[in-house]
Amino acid sequence: MSDIPQDDSAVDVEVRPITQADSILVIEDEDLIRFSLKSRLEQEGYKVLEAATGEAGLQILSERFIDLVLLDYKLPDLDGLRVLERISGTCPGQVVIMMTAYSSIEGVVEAMKAGAYTYVKKPFDFSEMLEHVKRGLETTRLRREVERLRREAMVSDKAPAMIGKSPAIAQIDALIAKINQAGASTALILGESGTGKNLVAKRIHYSSARARGPFMTITCTDFSENLLESELFGHQKGSFTGATGTKAGLFELADGGTIFLDEIGDMPLSLQAKLLRFLEEKTFRRVGGTKEIHVDVRLIAATNQSLEEKMKEGSFREDLYYRLAVIPIEIPPLRDRPEDVIDLAHLFVVAFAKEFRKKVDGIEPEMEAALQAHDWPGNVRELRNVIERAMILTEGPRLGPDDFPRFLSPRGPQPSRNEAELVLGPQGLDFEAFEKSLIERALELSNGNQSAAARLLHMSRDQIRYRMEKFDIHA
Ligand SMILES: Nc1ncnc2c1ncn2[C@@H]1O[C@H](COP(=O)(O)OP(=O)(O)OP(=O)(O)O)[C@@H](O)[C@H]1O
Ligand SMILES: [Mg+2]
Repeated sequence: MSDIPQDDSAVDVEVRPITQADSILVIEDEDLIRFSLKSRLEQEGYKVLEAATGEAGLQILSERFIDLVLLDYKLPDLDGLRVLERISGTCPGQVVIMMTAYSSIEGVVEAMKAGAYTYVKKPFDFSEMLEHVKRGLETTRLRREVERLRREAMVSDKAPAMIGKSPAIAQIDALIAKINQAGASTALILGESGTGKNLVAKRIHYSSARARGPFMTITCTDFSENLLESELFGHQKGSFTGATGTKAGLFELADGGTIFLDEIGDMPLSLQAKLLRFLEEKTFRRVGGTKEIHVDVRLIAATNQSLEEKMKEGSFREDLYYRLAVIPIEIPPLRDRPEDVIDLAHLFVVAFAKEFRKKVDGIEPEMEAALQAHDWPGNVRELRNVIERAMILTEGPRLGPDDFPRFLSPRGPQPSRNEAELVLGPQGLDFEAFEKSLIERALELSNGNQSAAARLLHMSRDQIRYRMEKFDIHA
Protein backbone atom coordinates (compact mmCIF):
# COMPACT_ATOMS: atom_id res chain seq x y z
CA MET A 1 0.00 0.00 0.00
CA SER A 2 2.93 2.29 -0.60
CA ASP A 3 1.67 4.19 -3.61
CA ILE A 4 -1.59 5.71 -2.58
CA PRO A 5 -3.54 6.88 -5.62
CA GLN A 6 -4.11 10.58 -6.01
CA ASP A 7 -7.80 10.28 -6.68
CA ASP A 8 -9.43 9.92 -3.24
CA SER A 9 -12.54 8.20 -4.50
CA ALA A 10 -10.48 5.35 -5.90
CA VAL A 11 -8.65 4.55 -2.67
CA ASP A 12 -11.09 1.95 -1.40
CA VAL A 13 -11.18 0.13 -4.67
CA GLU A 14 -7.43 -0.02 -4.83
CA VAL A 15 -6.71 -1.32 -1.36
CA ARG A 16 -9.57 -3.71 -1.03
CA PRO A 17 -9.28 -7.09 -2.64
CA ILE A 18 -12.28 -7.52 -4.84
CA THR A 19 -13.48 -10.56 -2.94
CA GLN A 20 -13.83 -8.56 0.21
CA ALA A 21 -15.68 -5.63 -1.32
CA ASP A 22 -19.34 -5.60 -0.36
CA SER A 23 -21.42 -6.72 -3.30
CA ILE A 24 -24.55 -4.89 -4.35
CA LEU A 25 -27.07 -6.09 -6.89
CA VAL A 26 -29.07 -3.40 -8.68
CA ILE A 27 -32.30 -4.70 -10.18
CA GLU A 28 -33.64 -1.84 -12.25
CA ASP A 29 -35.01 -1.71 -15.78
CA GLU A 30 -34.30 1.95 -16.45
CA ASP A 31 -30.84 1.96 -17.95
CA LEU A 32 -29.97 5.47 -16.90
CA ILE A 33 -30.71 4.92 -13.22
CA ARG A 34 -29.00 1.52 -13.24
CA PHE A 35 -25.85 2.83 -14.92
CA SER A 36 -25.56 5.81 -12.69
CA LEU A 37 -26.10 3.76 -9.52
CA LYS A 38 -23.52 1.28 -10.67
CA SER A 39 -20.83 3.83 -11.41
CA ARG A 40 -21.42 5.88 -8.28
CA LEU A 41 -21.46 2.82 -6.05
CA GLU A 42 -18.32 1.48 -7.69
CA GLN A 43 -16.63 4.75 -6.97
CA GLU A 44 -17.49 4.15 -3.33
CA GLY A 45 -15.62 0.86 -3.50
CA TYR A 46 -18.51 -1.57 -3.85
CA LYS A 47 -18.71 -4.43 -6.26
CA VAL A 48 -21.86 -3.87 -8.28
CA LEU A 49 -23.84 -6.40 -10.31
CA GLU A 50 -26.77 -5.37 -12.41
CA ALA A 51 -29.97 -6.88 -13.71
CA ALA A 52 -32.58 -5.24 -15.92
CA THR A 53 -35.33 -7.72 -15.09
CA GLY A 54 -36.63 -9.48 -12.02
CA GLU A 55 -35.79 -12.94 -13.37
CA ALA A 56 -32.24 -11.91 -14.21
CA GLY A 57 -31.83 -10.55 -10.68
CA LEU A 58 -33.17 -13.73 -9.10
CA GLN A 59 -30.83 -15.74 -11.27
CA ILE A 60 -27.80 -13.82 -9.95
CA LEU A 61 -29.03 -14.23 -6.37
CA SER A 62 -29.33 -17.97 -6.85
CA GLU A 63 -25.71 -18.18 -7.95
CA ARG A 64 -23.82 -16.05 -5.47
CA PHE A 65 -23.82 -14.26 -2.14
CA ILE A 66 -24.97 -10.67 -2.48
CA ASP A 67 -24.62 -8.32 0.46
CA LEU A 68 -27.35 -5.91 -0.53
CA VAL A 69 -30.06 -5.65 -3.19
CA LEU A 70 -31.47 -2.44 -4.63
CA LEU A 71 -34.79 -3.40 -6.15
CA ASP A 72 -37.00 -1.33 -8.36
CA TYR A 73 -40.68 -1.51 -7.50
CA LYS A 74 -41.80 -1.55 -11.11
CA LEU A 75 -40.13 -4.00 -13.42
CA PRO A 76 -41.08 -5.18 -16.92
CA ASP A 77 -41.44 -8.88 -16.14
CA LEU A 78 -42.23 -9.53 -12.50
CA ASP A 79 -43.36 -6.73 -10.28
CA GLY A 80 -40.88 -5.77 -7.59
CA LEU A 81 -43.05 -7.08 -4.81
CA ARG A 82 -43.11 -10.57 -6.34
CA VAL A 83 -39.35 -10.47 -6.73
CA LEU A 84 -39.05 -9.43 -3.10
CA GLU A 85 -41.25 -12.32 -1.98
CA ARG A 86 -39.16 -14.77 -3.92
CA ILE A 87 -35.96 -13.37 -2.47
CA SER A 88 -37.37 -13.72 1.05
CA GLY A 89 -38.26 -17.31 0.23
CA THR A 90 -34.91 -18.36 -1.17
CA CYS A 91 -32.50 -16.03 0.64
CA PRO A 92 -33.98 -15.39 4.07
CA GLY A 93 -32.31 -12.44 5.77
CA GLN A 94 -31.23 -10.85 2.48
CA VAL A 95 -31.21 -7.07 2.89
CA VAL A 96 -33.29 -5.47 0.13
CA ILE A 97 -33.87 -1.75 -0.38
CA MET A 98 -36.91 -0.97 -2.52
CA MET A 99 -36.78 1.93 -4.92
CA THR A 100 -40.16 3.28 -5.68
CA ALA A 101 -41.47 6.06 -7.85
CA TYR A 102 -44.92 5.29 -6.60
CA SER A 103 -44.92 6.60 -3.15
CA SER A 104 -48.37 5.20 -2.61
CA ILE A 105 -48.40 4.19 1.00
CA GLU A 106 -49.84 0.72 0.24
CA GLY A 107 -46.94 -0.24 -1.95
CA VAL A 108 -44.51 0.76 0.74
CA VAL A 109 -46.43 -1.04 3.46
CA GLU A 110 -46.65 -4.17 1.38
CA ALA A 111 -42.96 -4.06 0.60
CA MET A 112 -42.06 -3.69 4.25
CA LYS A 113 -44.37 -6.55 5.14
CA ALA A 114 -42.75 -8.70 2.49
CA GLY A 115 -39.44 -8.18 4.20
CA ALA A 116 -37.88 -5.09 2.57
CA TYR A 117 -35.21 -3.52 4.72
CA THR A 118 -36.31 -0.01 3.78
CA TYR A 119 -37.45 1.99 0.77
CA VAL A 120 -36.19 5.00 -1.11
CA LYS A 121 -38.44 7.23 -3.10
CA LYS A 122 -37.50 8.13 -6.64
CA PRO A 123 -36.09 10.49 -7.59
CA PHE A 124 -33.46 10.27 -4.87
CA ASP A 125 -30.18 11.95 -4.53
CA PHE A 126 -27.16 9.74 -4.33
CA SER A 127 -25.93 10.82 -0.91
CA GLU A 128 -29.29 9.85 0.58
CA MET A 129 -29.11 6.48 -1.19
CA LEU A 130 -25.56 5.98 0.03
CA GLU A 131 -26.64 6.42 3.64
CA HIS A 132 -29.27 3.71 3.23
CA VAL A 133 -26.77 1.45 1.50
CA LYS A 134 -24.24 1.82 4.30
CA ARG A 135 -26.78 1.07 6.97
CA GLY A 136 -28.16 -1.83 4.96
CA LEU A 137 -24.71 -3.34 4.61
CA GLU A 138 -24.10 -2.95 8.32
CA THR A 139 -27.32 -4.87 8.90
CA THR A 140 -26.15 -7.61 6.54
CA ARG A 141 -22.92 -7.90 8.51
CA LEU A 142 -24.78 -8.09 11.79
CA ARG A 143 -27.26 -10.64 10.48
CA ARG A 144 -24.46 -12.84 9.20
CA GLU A 145 -22.59 -12.55 12.47
CA VAL A 146 -25.69 -13.50 14.42
CA GLU A 147 -26.26 -16.42 12.06
CA ARG A 148 -22.65 -17.53 12.48
CA LEU A 149 -22.89 -17.37 16.28
CA ARG A 150 -26.21 -19.15 16.22
CA ARG A 151 -24.73 -21.94 14.13
CA GLU A 152 -21.71 -22.18 16.37
CA ALA A 153 -23.95 -22.38 19.40
CA MET A 154 -26.09 -25.00 17.76
CA VAL A 155 -23.32 -27.22 16.57
CA SER A 156 -23.01 -28.04 20.20
CA ASP A 157 -20.40 -30.20 21.89
CA LYS A 158 -23.06 -32.84 21.74
CA ALA A 159 -22.19 -33.37 18.07
CA PRO A 160 -19.77 -36.25 18.47
CA ALA A 161 -16.56 -36.13 16.45
CA MET A 162 -16.08 -38.66 13.70
CA ILE A 163 -12.55 -39.89 13.93
CA GLY A 164 -10.66 -41.20 10.92
CA LYS A 165 -8.63 -39.93 8.00
CA SER A 166 -10.02 -42.32 5.43
CA PRO A 167 -11.78 -40.87 2.39
CA ALA A 168 -14.90 -42.71 3.54
CA ILE A 169 -15.09 -40.73 6.78
CA ALA A 170 -14.47 -37.45 4.95
CA GLN A 171 -17.24 -38.30 2.51
CA ILE A 172 -19.67 -39.15 5.28
CA ASP A 173 -18.90 -35.86 6.97
CA ALA A 174 -19.49 -33.97 3.73
CA LEU A 175 -22.76 -35.83 3.25
CA ILE A 176 -23.89 -34.91 6.77
CA ALA A 177 -23.20 -31.25 6.00
CA LYS A 178 -25.17 -31.47 2.77
CA ILE A 179 -28.10 -33.18 4.44
CA ASN A 180 -28.22 -30.42 7.01
CA GLN A 181 -27.81 -27.59 4.53
CA ALA A 182 -30.72 -28.94 2.53
CA GLY A 183 -32.75 -29.60 5.68
CA ALA A 184 -33.52 -33.06 4.28
CA SER A 185 -36.41 -34.67 6.12
CA THR A 186 -35.02 -38.22 6.12
CA ALA A 187 -31.71 -40.02 6.03
CA LEU A 188 -30.82 -43.69 5.92
CA ILE A 189 -27.66 -45.01 7.55
CA LEU A 190 -26.33 -48.38 6.43
CA GLY A 191 -23.44 -50.32 7.87
CA GLU A 192 -22.42 -53.48 9.67
CA SER A 193 -22.82 -53.72 13.38
CA GLY A 194 -20.43 -51.46 15.29
CA THR A 195 -19.45 -49.25 12.35
CA GLY A 196 -20.81 -46.08 13.92
CA LYS A 197 -24.44 -45.75 12.80
CA ASN A 198 -25.63 -44.33 16.12
CA LEU A 199 -22.74 -41.92 16.13
CA VAL A 200 -23.55 -40.68 12.62
CA ALA A 201 -27.22 -40.22 13.53
CA LYS A 202 -26.26 -38.11 16.54
CA ARG A 203 -23.83 -36.11 14.51
CA ILE A 204 -26.51 -35.33 11.92
CA HIS A 205 -28.91 -34.12 14.57
CA TYR A 206 -26.50 -32.13 16.70
CA SER A 207 -24.96 -30.33 13.76
CA SER A 208 -28.31 -29.41 12.25
CA ALA A 209 -30.65 -26.49 12.75
CA ARG A 210 -32.64 -28.89 14.96
CA ALA A 211 -29.79 -29.34 17.43
CA ARG A 212 -31.74 -27.61 20.18
CA GLY A 213 -34.75 -29.80 19.56
CA PRO A 214 -35.10 -33.32 20.93
CA PHE A 215 -33.11 -36.29 19.64
CA MET A 216 -34.90 -39.52 20.33
CA THR A 217 -33.74 -43.02 19.62
CA ILE A 218 -35.90 -46.07 19.34
CA THR A 219 -34.82 -49.57 18.37
CA CYS A 220 -37.49 -51.43 16.47
CA THR A 221 -36.44 -54.83 17.80
CA ASP A 222 -36.93 -53.73 21.42
CA PHE A 223 -40.73 -53.84 21.12
CA SER A 224 -43.51 -56.09 19.98
CA GLU A 225 -45.46 -54.82 16.99
CA ASN A 226 -48.29 -53.31 19.02
CA LEU A 227 -46.06 -51.70 21.55
CA LEU A 228 -43.81 -50.27 18.88
CA GLU A 229 -46.77 -48.61 17.22
CA SER A 230 -47.91 -47.10 20.46
CA GLU A 231 -44.37 -46.00 21.36
CA LEU A 232 -44.02 -44.23 18.03
CA PHE A 233 -47.45 -42.78 17.51
CA GLY A 234 -48.99 -42.78 20.98
CA HIS A 235 -52.41 -44.07 21.91
CA GLN A 236 -55.82 -42.96 23.14
CA LYS A 237 -57.14 -44.09 26.46
CA GLY A 238 -58.80 -47.48 26.20
CA SER A 239 -57.53 -48.24 22.69
CA PHE A 240 -56.16 -51.57 23.88
CA THR A 241 -56.01 -53.52 27.10
CA GLY A 242 -53.56 -51.72 29.32
CA ALA A 243 -54.00 -48.34 27.64
CA THR A 244 -55.27 -46.77 30.81
CA GLY A 245 -54.46 -43.24 29.78
CA THR A 246 -53.85 -41.27 26.63
CA LYS A 247 -50.19 -41.21 25.79
CA ALA A 248 -48.20 -39.13 23.34
CA GLY A 249 -45.85 -41.10 21.12
CA LEU A 250 -42.28 -40.33 20.19
CA PHE A 251 -43.32 -38.50 17.06
CA GLU A 252 -45.14 -35.96 19.19
CA LEU A 253 -42.38 -35.75 21.76
CA ALA A 254 -39.73 -35.26 19.07
CA ASP A 255 -41.58 -32.34 17.44
CA GLY A 256 -38.99 -29.87 16.19
CA GLY A 257 -36.25 -32.46 16.47
CA THR A 258 -35.15 -35.84 15.20
CA ILE A 259 -36.21 -39.44 15.66
CA PHE A 260 -33.58 -42.09 15.17
CA LEU A 261 -35.24 -45.33 14.19
CA ASP A 262 -32.67 -48.06 14.65
CA GLU A 263 -32.88 -51.51 13.05
CA ILE A 264 -35.58 -50.38 10.70
CA GLY A 265 -35.10 -53.61 8.73
CA ASP A 266 -37.04 -55.35 11.49
CA MET A 267 -40.01 -53.03 11.50
CA PRO A 268 -43.27 -54.94 10.94
CA LEU A 269 -44.93 -54.32 7.57
CA SER A 270 -48.09 -52.76 9.00
CA LEU A 271 -46.01 -50.15 10.76
CA GLN A 272 -43.95 -49.55 7.66
CA ALA A 273 -47.15 -48.45 5.95
CA LYS A 274 -47.98 -46.06 8.76
CA LEU A 275 -44.47 -44.69 8.76
CA LEU A 276 -44.56 -44.08 5.02
CA ARG A 277 -47.81 -42.22 5.36
CA PHE A 278 -46.26 -40.07 8.04
CA LEU A 279 -43.25 -39.30 5.86
CA GLU A 280 -45.42 -38.25 2.97
CA GLU A 281 -48.00 -36.25 4.84
CA LYS A 282 -46.25 -35.30 8.08
CA THR A 283 -49.37 -36.35 9.93
CA PHE A 284 -50.47 -39.46 11.80
CA ARG A 285 -53.10 -40.69 14.22
CA ARG A 286 -52.57 -42.12 17.65
CA VAL A 287 -53.53 -45.75 18.13
CA GLY A 288 -57.28 -45.65 18.63
CA GLY A 289 -57.35 -41.95 17.80
CA THR A 290 -59.22 -40.11 15.08
CA LYS A 291 -57.50 -36.75 15.13
CA GLU A 292 -54.75 -36.12 12.57
CA ILE A 293 -51.70 -34.88 14.40
CA HIS A 294 -49.18 -32.78 12.56
CA VAL A 295 -45.56 -32.64 13.67
CA ASP A 296 -42.26 -31.43 12.29
CA VAL A 297 -39.87 -34.32 12.81
CA ARG A 298 -36.84 -35.45 10.88
CA LEU A 299 -36.48 -39.19 10.61
CA ILE A 300 -33.12 -40.91 10.53
CA ALA A 301 -33.27 -44.65 10.04
CA ALA A 302 -30.50 -47.22 10.31
CA THR A 303 -30.01 -50.89 9.66
CA ASN A 304 -27.22 -53.43 9.42
CA GLN A 305 -29.31 -55.63 7.16
CA SER A 306 -29.68 -55.52 3.42
CA LEU A 307 -32.98 -53.79 2.75
CA GLU A 308 -32.71 -54.91 -0.86
CA GLU A 309 -32.78 -58.52 0.32
CA LYS A 310 -35.68 -57.75 2.62
CA MET A 311 -37.60 -56.22 -0.27
CA LYS A 312 -37.01 -59.34 -2.36
CA GLU A 313 -38.33 -61.46 0.51
CA GLY A 314 -41.30 -59.17 0.78
CA SER A 315 -40.59 -58.11 4.34
CA PHE A 316 -39.70 -54.52 3.53
CA ARG A 317 -41.85 -52.13 1.52
CA GLU A 318 -40.26 -50.81 -1.64
CA ASP A 319 -42.02 -47.47 -1.48
CA LEU A 320 -40.74 -46.91 2.05
CA TYR A 321 -37.25 -47.94 0.98
CA TYR A 322 -37.17 -45.44 -1.85
CA ARG A 323 -38.58 -42.73 0.38
CA LEU A 324 -35.87 -43.34 2.99
CA ALA A 325 -33.00 -44.04 0.64
CA VAL A 326 -33.06 -40.61 -0.98
CA ILE A 327 -29.84 -39.96 0.86
CA PRO A 328 -28.19 -43.19 1.98
CA ILE A 329 -25.10 -42.97 4.11
CA GLU A 330 -23.03 -46.11 3.89
CA ILE A 331 -20.42 -46.63 6.58
CA PRO A 332 -17.84 -49.10 5.33
CA PRO A 333 -16.63 -51.83 7.70
CA LEU A 334 -13.43 -51.00 9.58
CA ARG A 335 -11.44 -53.67 7.69
CA ASP A 336 -12.00 -51.65 4.49
CA ARG A 337 -10.45 -48.54 6.01
CA PRO A 338 -7.43 -49.75 8.00
CA GLU A 339 -6.03 -46.22 7.95
CA ASP A 340 -8.65 -45.31 10.57
CA VAL A 341 -7.66 -48.02 13.06
CA ILE A 342 -4.79 -46.26 14.79
CA ASP A 343 -6.58 -42.92 15.14
CA LEU A 344 -9.57 -44.67 16.66
CA ALA A 345 -7.37 -46.78 18.93
CA HIS A 346 -5.70 -43.63 20.25
CA LEU A 347 -9.05 -41.98 20.80
CA PHE A 348 -10.09 -44.91 22.98
CA VAL A 349 -6.74 -45.01 24.81
CA VAL A 350 -7.16 -41.36 25.78
CA ALA A 351 -10.80 -41.85 26.78
CA PHE A 352 -10.14 -44.91 28.96
CA ALA A 353 -6.96 -43.43 30.45
CA LYS A 354 -9.19 -40.67 31.74
CA GLU A 355 -11.95 -42.98 32.87
CA PHE A 356 -9.64 -45.45 34.65
CA ARG A 357 -7.22 -42.74 35.78
CA LYS A 358 -4.30 -44.58 34.29
CA LYS A 359 -1.18 -43.03 32.86
CA VAL A 360 -1.08 -44.69 29.49
CA ASP A 361 -0.01 -42.60 26.59
CA GLY A 362 0.07 -44.83 23.57
CA ILE A 363 0.51 -48.18 21.90
CA GLU A 364 3.75 -49.93 21.01
CA PRO A 365 4.46 -49.79 17.28
CA GLU A 366 4.48 -53.58 16.73
CA MET A 367 1.11 -53.73 18.43
CA GLU A 368 -0.21 -50.92 16.26
CA ALA A 369 0.76 -52.91 13.20
CA ALA A 370 -1.09 -55.95 14.57
CA LEU A 371 -4.19 -53.86 15.26
CA GLN A 372 -4.11 -52.52 11.74
CA ALA A 373 -3.75 -55.99 10.25
CA HIS A 374 -6.72 -57.44 12.13
CA ASP A 375 -9.98 -57.62 10.19
CA TRP A 376 -12.33 -56.37 12.95
CA PRO A 377 -15.54 -58.32 12.34
CA GLY A 378 -17.11 -56.32 15.18
CA ASN A 379 -15.84 -53.07 13.65
CA VAL A 380 -15.21 -49.97 15.76
CA ARG A 381 -17.09 -51.39 18.72
CA GLU A 382 -14.77 -54.43 18.79
CA LEU A 383 -11.74 -52.15 18.65
CA ARG A 384 -13.14 -50.10 21.49
CA ASN A 385 -13.71 -53.22 23.60
CA VAL A 386 -10.23 -54.56 22.89
CA ILE A 387 -8.67 -51.25 23.94
CA GLU A 388 -10.85 -51.07 27.03
CA ARG A 389 -9.71 -54.54 28.08
CA ALA A 390 -6.06 -53.69 27.39
CA MET A 391 -6.38 -50.49 29.40
CA ILE A 392 -7.66 -52.46 32.37
CA LEU A 393 -4.88 -55.06 32.15
CA THR A 394 -1.91 -52.89 31.31
CA GLU A 395 0.81 -51.85 33.70
CA GLY A 396 1.56 -48.97 31.32
CA PRO A 397 2.89 -46.65 30.12
CA ARG A 398 2.17 -48.09 26.67
CA LEU A 399 -0.13 -50.84 25.52
CA GLY A 400 1.92 -53.80 24.35
CA PRO A 401 1.30 -57.34 23.07
CA ASP A 402 0.77 -58.73 26.57
CA ASP A 403 -2.24 -56.49 27.06
CA PHE A 404 -4.13 -57.87 24.09
CA PRO A 405 -5.87 -61.19 23.40
CA ARG A 406 -3.63 -63.76 21.76
CA PHE A 407 -5.25 -63.62 18.37
CA LEU A 408 -4.19 -59.99 18.13
CA SER A 409 -0.74 -60.34 19.58
CA PRO A 410 2.03 -59.98 17.01
CA ARG A 411 4.23 -62.36 19.05
CA GLY A 412 1.77 -65.08 19.77
CA PRO A 413 0.75 -67.80 17.34
CA GLN A 414 -1.48 -66.43 14.64
CA PRO A 415 -4.20 -68.95 14.01
CA SER A 416 -6.97 -67.52 11.93
CA ARG A 417 -9.98 -66.82 14.06
CA ASN A 418 -11.94 -68.55 11.43
CA GLU A 419 -10.09 -71.61 10.26
CA ALA A 420 -12.84 -72.57 7.87
CA GLU A 421 -12.18 -69.35 5.95
CA LEU A 422 -8.54 -70.32 5.54
CA VAL A 423 -9.14 -73.89 4.51
CA LEU A 424 -12.24 -73.75 2.39
CA GLY A 425 -11.51 -71.81 -0.77
CA PRO A 426 -13.87 -71.23 -3.67
CA GLN A 427 -12.85 -74.53 -5.24
CA GLY A 428 -14.19 -76.45 -2.22
CA LEU A 429 -12.59 -79.46 -0.51
CA ASP A 430 -13.04 -83.16 0.13
CA PHE A 431 -14.18 -83.10 3.73
CA GLU A 432 -13.50 -86.74 4.61
CA ALA A 433 -10.01 -86.67 3.13
CA PHE A 434 -9.34 -83.46 5.03
CA GLU A 435 -10.53 -84.91 8.31
CA LYS A 436 -8.38 -87.98 7.74
CA SER A 437 -5.32 -85.87 7.00
CA LEU A 438 -5.90 -83.85 10.16
CA ILE A 439 -5.97 -87.01 12.29
CA GLU A 440 -2.81 -88.28 10.63
CA ARG A 441 -1.04 -84.97 11.12
CA ALA A 442 -2.03 -84.80 14.78
CA LEU A 443 -0.72 -88.33 15.38
CA GLU A 444 2.48 -87.46 13.56
CA LEU A 445 2.98 -84.33 15.70
CA SER A 446 2.39 -86.34 18.89
CA ASN A 447 4.54 -89.29 17.86
CA GLY A 448 1.62 -91.67 17.77
CA ASN A 449 0.39 -90.78 21.25
CA GLN A 450 -3.41 -90.92 20.86
CA SER A 451 -4.22 -88.81 23.92
CA ALA A 452 -1.85 -86.05 22.84
CA ALA A 453 -3.21 -86.11 19.28
CA ALA A 454 -6.77 -85.87 20.63
CA ARG A 455 -5.79 -82.81 22.67
CA LEU A 456 -4.37 -81.12 19.58
CA LEU A 457 -7.69 -81.62 17.86
CA HIS A 458 -9.73 -80.52 20.89
CA MET A 459 -11.43 -83.92 21.08
CA SER A 460 -11.66 -86.85 23.45
CA ARG A 461 -9.66 -90.05 23.14
CA ASP A 462 -12.82 -91.90 22.19
CA GLN A 463 -13.58 -89.42 19.44
CA ILE A 464 -10.13 -89.79 17.89
CA ARG A 465 -10.25 -93.59 18.20
CA TYR A 466 -13.59 -93.66 16.45
CA ARG A 467 -12.18 -91.67 13.56
CA MET A 468 -8.98 -93.75 13.38
CA GLU A 469 -11.10 -96.83 12.96
CA LYS A 470 -13.33 -95.14 10.41
CA PHE A 471 -10.39 -94.06 8.27
CA ASP A 472 -8.40 -97.17 8.96
CA ILE A 473 -5.50 -95.31 10.50
CA HIS A 474 -2.97 -97.22 12.60
CA ALA A 475 -0.79 -95.24 14.88
N1 LIG B 1 -15.58 -42.71 13.33
C1 LIG B 1 -15.73 -42.86 14.65
N2 LIG B 1 -15.13 -41.98 15.50
C2 LIG B 1 -15.26 -42.14 16.83
N3 LIG B 1 -15.95 -43.11 17.43
C3 LIG B 1 -16.56 -44.01 16.64
C4 LIG B 1 -16.50 -43.91 15.21
N4 LIG B 1 -17.21 -44.93 14.70
C5 LIG B 1 -17.70 -45.62 15.73
N5 LIG B 1 -17.33 -45.08 16.91
C6 LIG B 1 -17.63 -45.60 18.26
O1 LIG B 1 -17.75 -47.00 18.16
C7 LIG B 1 -18.80 -47.50 18.96
C8 LIG B 1 -19.83 -48.21 18.11
O2 LIG B 1 -20.51 -47.28 17.29
P1 LIG B 1 -22.11 -47.26 17.12
O3 LIG B 1 -22.79 -47.67 18.37
O4 LIG B 1 -22.48 -45.94 16.56
O5 LIG B 1 -22.23 -48.40 16.02
P2 LIG B 1 -23.55 -48.95 15.29
O6 LIG B 1 -23.21 -49.02 13.85
O7 LIG B 1 -24.72 -48.16 15.69
O8 LIG B 1 -23.64 -50.44 15.85
P3 LIG B 1 -24.95 -51.42 15.93
O9 LIG B 1 -25.25 -51.84 14.53
O10 LIG B 1 -24.46 -52.55 16.75
O11 LIG B 1 -26.03 -50.63 16.56
C9 LIG B 1 -19.36 -46.31 19.69
O12 LIG B 1 -18.70 -46.21 20.93
C10 LIG B 1 -18.97 -45.14 18.79
O13 LIG B 1 -18.89 -43.96 19.49
MG1 LIG C 1 -26.42 -48.78 16.68
